[in-house]
Amino acid sequence: MLFSKIRHLQLLGVRYRSSHYVTTPIFYVNAAPHIGHLYSAVIADAHCRYQRLRYPDTEVRLCTGTDEHGTKIQQAAAAHEVPVGQYCDEISALYRGVFKEARIEYDDFIRTTEQRHKSAVSDFWHRLQSRGHIYSAAYSGWYCVSDETFLTDSQLRLDEASGARYSLESGHPVEWTEETNYMFRLSQFQDDVRHWVKQEARIRPVKFEKILLDTLSEPLPDVSISRPANRVHWAIPVPNDETQTVYVWLDALINYLSSLGYPNEQYLAHWPPAQQVIGKDILKFHGVYWPAFLLAAGLEPPRQLHVHSHWTVDGQKMSKSKHNVVDPVEAAKQYTMEGLRYFLLREGVAHSDGNFSHVKALRILNSELADTLGNLLSRACAKSLNPHQMYPEPHVEHLSQLLQHLDAGKRLQEALFHLAGRCEQHYEGNHFHLVADTAIAALHAANNFFECAKPWELKAGGSSPNAQRLQTIIAMTMDALRLCGIVLQPMMPQLTSRLLDKLNVPIAQRSWRHLGESFATPATPATVGNGPESHQLDEQSSALLFQRIVEQQDKPTEQRTQSPAQSKRSKSKRERKSSATMS
Ligand code: MSP
Repeated sequence: MLFSKIRHLQLLGVRYRSSHYVTTPIFYVNAAPHIGHLYSAVIADAHCRYQRLRYPDTEVRLCTGTDEHGTKIQQAAAAHEVPVGQYCDEISALYRGVFKEARIEYDDFIRTTEQRHKSAVSDFWHRLQSRGHIYSAAYSGWYCVSDETFLTDSQLRLDEASGARYSLESGHPVEWTEETNYMFRLSQFQDDVRHWVKQEARIRPVKFEKILLDTLSEPLPDVSISRPANRVHWAIPVPNDETQTVYVWLDALINYLSSLGYPNEQYLAHWPPAQQVIGKDILKFHGVYWPAFLLAAGLEPPRQLHVHSHWTVDGQKMSKSKHNVVDPVEAAKQYTMEGLRYFLLREGVAHSDGNFSHVKALRILNSELADTLGNLLSRACAKSLNPHQMYPEPHVEHLSQLLQHLDAGKRLQEALFHLAGRCEQHYEGNHFHLVADTAIAALHAANNFFECAKPWELKAGGSSPNAQRLQTIIAMTMDALRLCGIVLQPMMPQLTSRLLDKLNVPIAQRSWRHLGESFATPATPATVGNGPESHQLDEQSSALLFQRIVEQQDKPTEQRTQSPAQSKRSKSKRERKSSATMS
């Protein structure tokens, strides 16, 4: 079997383990980014940040970018009356802007219109061709421009009234297309792809593995991998045949290789991807075509696909016609970008669609980030309780008293003791909502402990037993904040960095292994604790982490359906209008 023939590549396993290559899908530049796009990127980013935190010796590499060829892009640029190259530049820049603001820490941002990518596509094509996997044939079928794919009759819906046909899955119209294309022998890879899909933890969540296996239970037809250049000219020419251009999905998938420098052998240092994050709508392309293309080219397919579901808005699919597309930049004005990141990861679950509702966002951000996390930091830093602005060390007797005689103290210790292990398990499966649950539960325990220990009844200052008990309460509370801050770094890099800055935790002490250092995990039963030494808080940093959001009249699901070019044009129209009025 071909799959086993390339198994020898796995002998390079030692090198693989030292690299962890992660990708997002590359984003179409037909319209500005919305929260669904940001979601794919945030998942991949949080995954990579966790990997870096947990496995500091592994080289983690995250690649993202924009998918810029094809009829869809051609048409979008034409509709906005902007040259297609310029249109791509503008929308691609919008993606980079949003990702910068959202702290997507990518190592490479690739655009399919770059020369390095075109060379990689050309090489890959030659590879498929020289191995006999490409042939030329007349092809006809229903083509969906929006989805950039041919569809079979069973994938279509016929509108009886108009006679028009639509994609069942996406709802977009299709058109009858007859042309001569280059075909890829997908049918020959049915068994290999099925074998690949069935490997342990290959496709996650399992629900999507089942969907793929269902698809693979039917015979796979060969797939057309080129289009006539006179119909789709905004694309990469087929090598040695200028009458044809490369099918956009083959072009797009190869970005994962071109970003690593393929065909230069240096790409092998990171190949294959450890995890590819994709939305459920592009499962077939990544779970059937992609492994087949790679196997045909003699390359190893990815080790894991992490598939996520979609965001709806107030229960409805996001669409320009419904004017409910949530623009991340607008949403961040109200929730902050960290708040938006947190909400997406906290509320989204991979296996089913999530609903983006303003009411829910307010409730979660206010209760978890403002009231539970932010408020606890303000209380522990209050001048009345902490006049010298210290992150103190606990006192032996008071610590054991608080742990033995105060139920809330015991519960806090228990929550913090399990924090690292539980969160690690959840992060490993990209279950960010469970990481948040676990950290917020620990912070609830810390708030509850603070309430029950009543530090405000104790007098601060000096070395009286009262003052020592107060210091111990503050120390335990700050430990809880510090540990939760470390754990939540992948989900909210900026907010947690402000938290850890305020607590004056050195950068070198913010990694996963430092979760083992706290009063809750004593080095030996005889010692006080294992946490940081008593030190000053950083007075330059604010103790205000997340400001409560107050309800506004306007909903944040403010849309940006205009392209930058379009808004420039309406601006210049406005300018023209006002100068006309003036004259
Ligand atoms: N260009 C292709 C991917 C090529 S990868 C070789 C594409 N682009 S896209 O811009 O349409 O989508 C990019 C990602 O955004 C996909 O993972 C897709 O699932 C995701 N989302 C688009 N709409 C979404 C929601 N409403 N909710 C969540 N994710 C969504 O497909």
